[in-house]
Amino acid sequence: MISVSEKFYFYYFYHVFKHYFSIQQIGIMSKVKVTLKVNGDLYEAAVNQSKTLVEVLREDLQLVGTKIGCQTGDCGACTILLNGKSVCSCLTLAIEAQNKEITTIEGIAKSGEELHIIQEAFVNEGAIQCGYCTPGMVMSAKHLLDKNTTPTELEIRQALSGNLCRCTGYARIVKAVQVASEKINQSVTEK
Ligand code: FES
Ligand code: FES
Repeated sequence: MISVSEKFYFYYFYHVFKHYFSIQQIGIMSKVKVTLKVNGDLYEAAVNQSKTLVEVLREDLQLVGTKIGCQTGDCGACTILLNGKSVCSCLTLAIEAQNKEITTIEGIAKSGEELHIIQEAFVNEGAIQCGYCTPGMVMSAKHLLDKNTTPTELEIRQALSGNLCRCTGYARIVKAVQVASEKINQSVTEK
């Protein structure tokens, strides 16, 4: 004869296991294979359909240069370029980014060792303190300078308005973008 307490434990564990395995099953069933073109290279990953692009970049592709801050589109730390347009990768699903050109901070330097003009200007102008906002700032600056190589201070501030920095007070960041813009124009006239 099964006692009341044995019945209780039986039902308790039965429901715990049932719940656990149904969660696992949902996780497996909702995974899809995505192919992403990041910095010119093709990557494949099996990801949950609800996984954001920044999560896939960092967790599945190990491209951890793109940062995660608010995850609500407010801080700009996760900024990347999607078909040349700056977007918050925390608000973009990985499955949405298929068949598009994704550029992350890892992809803007000419080679693994040489910094991009914008990155160099950030370093030289002291526009980096803790550095957490820097990849997103650089990507927003790149988006601006790709379409406008002679931006005014106001245009720079507007272009970076979606990127928050808690350390620098922004003046050095704006200066860095101005210096980068001068260097880009110099390199064009020298060619
Ligand atoms: S983490 Fe995407 S905007 Fe803050
Ligand atoms: S340098 Fe620290 S948040 Fe910008």
